[in-house]
Amino acid sequence: MNDRSGDGTTNTSLPPEPARAVRHILGIETSCDETSVSVLTASWEPDADVTYGILPQGWPQQIAVLAHLVHTQTSLHQPFGGVVPEVAARDHLAKLPQITAAALETSQLKVSDLTGIAVTVGPGLIGAVMVGCLFAQGLSEASGVPLWAINHVDAHLAPATLLESFDPQRDLGVWLPVRQARFPRISLTTSGGHCLLSLDTSPCERTFLGTTLDDACGEAFDKVAKMLGFPYPGGPHIERCAEQGNPQAHRFAQPLAGRDGFDFSFSGLKTAVLRAAQSRGEGVDLDKQTRADLAASFQSAALDHLIQRTAAALRAHPQALELVVAGGVAANKRFRAGLASATSVPVHFAPVSLCGDNGTMIALQALLEQRPALGVAPHARYFGNKKIKAALSL
Ligand code: KG4
Ligand code: ZN
Repeated sequence: MNDRSGDGTTNTSLPPEPARAVRHILGIETSCDETSVSVLTASWEPDADVTYGILPQGWPQQIAVLAHLVHTQTSLHQPFGGVVPEVAARDHLAKLPQITAAALETSQLKVSDLTGIAVTVGPGLIGAVMVGCLFAQGLSEASGVPLWAINHVDAHLAPATLLESFDPQRDLGVWLPVRQARFPRISLTTSGGHCLLSLDTSPCERTFLGTTLDDACGEAFDKVAKMLGFPYPGGPHIERCAEQGNPQAHRFAQPLAGRDGFDFSFSGLKTAVLRAAQSRGEGVDLDKQTRADLAASFQSAALDHLIQRTAAALRAHPQALELVVAGGVAANKRFRAGLASATSVPVHFAPVSLCGDNGTMIALQALLEQRPALGVAPHARYFGNKKIKAALSL
């Protein structure tokens, strides 16, 4: 095993020195259309007590991702133009056991070697979540290895919290240096299902500042992509197509203009793109330049909305020492560049390879939790709905 913690010149071999405290975590993610299983190892100072999570005894010194397997169901859902929950759950059920076995084999670990099994318990498609949960619960009960119930939205932020970079082609089985995250911070999670701004005082203590009032940003990218004749998931297609377009070609109204607060809205923008597309033709019948101009103008308006709300949250919370950003939309290059230049604090993005759903982020979040616990977290959209929140006593 190579060591990238210092200047990259020293090498350490697995297993870590016996005196070191280590934990091996299996991470399982099945909440939407990725079946993903990862195994990671974290090491602490020799005398650290690592019975439970890292908070009581501090940050781990190094982390190595031993296995990072992501099976995407994209081709199964593409004919339907979006994720079909029943299809997703059945495919997770078919693939999860063999992917877990492959992850353990790649890591050269047995289930009994694990310190913990971490699994997404929500939010997500309920059938899909249940497949992962029940599988992990069975594995835990059969082996006696503790089970960590992980909130998927919290977990999206864990790679940006702990790692500077991670490229599975280069970094698998390599000791990675651990980033010293700073709190309080502002965090933004922007994906196909979620759009959340929060003020975090620790990796597990968050005050929600804003969420989307309608569609998530990634969802809007997917719907606009569909209008323009691109397959699901649409974000990467819009990004590529926009490179040839003029972002000023259509001046779409800024969502929630003149409204204070940190909530988001993308459905009005999506409808405006639909109207503009309809005035010029239908989907794939649009000519190449019209599609590129619509993609570029939409992307610019959607990303500016994210950037402006996030910059406003930072201005309103000057105590924030950094900004962390994660979720599928955080893979967008224009977004990364635009946000980094619009903020006054250091910005840490999740590594691009860990922006979409994956088991590594679930295992990393387990390192950040205080102790193993089983509990189902509410769907992120409920955070924005005061009536539901009150009814559920959240
Ligand atoms: O985090 P993720 O894999 O799944 C959820 O938890 O939702 O995010 C997937 C979303 C999709 O809506 C996809 O279109 C969007 O992230 N996405 C992007 C890009 N790559 C993925 N959106 C904009 N630009 C991208 N490059
Ligand atoms: Zn996600």
